Amino acid sequence: MRIAVLRDYQSLSERAAALVSARIGKKPTAVLGLATGSTPLGLYRELVKAAQRGLVDFSGVTTFNLDEYYPIERESLQSYYYYMQQHFWGPLGICPGRAHIPDGRAGDIAGVCSDYEQKIMDAGGIDLQILGIGVNGHIGFNEPGAALSAKTHLASLSAETIAANSRFFEDRDAVPRRAISMGLGTIMKAREILLLASGSEKARAIGETVRGKLTTKVPASLLQAHPRVTVMVDRAAACCLR
Ligand code: PGA
Repeated sequence: MRIAVLRDYQSLSERAAALVSARIGKKPTAVLGLATGSTPLGLYRELVKAAQRGLVDFSGVTTFNLDEYYPIERESLQSYYYYMQQHFWGPLGICPGRAHIPDGRAGDIAGVCSDYEQKIMDAGGIDLQILGIGVNGHIGFNEPGAALSAKTHLASLSAETIAANSRFFEDRDAVPRRAISMGLGTIMKAREILLLASGSEKARAIGETVRGKLTTKVPASLLQAHPRVTVMVDRAAACCLR
C-alpha cells in the first residue's frame, strides 16, 4: 500500500484528481469505479475543473459506481444516481451509455447484480477504483463480516452506516436499509485502487486498514492484499498512522 498524507481536504482532492487525470492521460478509454458520499466531492469538483480547462478528456472514459440504495427512485435527492448526475456525469457530459450504476428500482435484483458484473467484464474490467471508507471500515456497502469473494449483491446497511448516512435524509428512519453494492471480490479485481479519507472520524478505520490485521471485521483491511493501492488521507484522518 502506498500512503499519501496531505495537509487538508483541498490538497487531498487536488492530489486525487491529479492521479485520476494522469491515469486517463495514459489510457483515454480507462474504466473508472466511482464512489459517492462526502469524501469524493472535492475530487469530482477538481476533475470537472480540469476537464473544463481541457487538461483531461472524459469522452472515452467508462464509469461504474460502487453502489446504490435499494429501493430508491433515481429522481430521489438521496439516490446515488442523482448525486452522480449533479456532481460528475452531468457537468462532464458523460454519455449515459458509459455511466453505470446499479438500478435501485429493479424488481429482479439477482438479474441486475449479475448484469452489472457482466457489464464490468465486457468493458474490460475496472482500471482504477475510487473508494471512500466508512467509520466502521466498510468499502462500498460491504459492512464488517462481508464475504471476501462477494460479487455485486443486495447488502444490508449496518446500524453505524444508517446513523452516519442519516445526515443526508430527513431522519434515521428514512435511510434505506439495503443497497445494491459491488462485493469485496468485485472491488479486489480492479487493477488499481485509490482510497480516500478525510477527517478525524475516519482516523481509527484508516489506522486499522493500514496497520491492523487483515480481517473481514474491517473490510478495507483486505486492501492490504491488493498489489496496487494508494491510501490518500488528510492529516486528521492520518492521526492513527504515526
Ligand atoms: P463519506 O462516506 O465519504 O460520506 O464519509 C464514505 C463511506 O461511507 O464509504
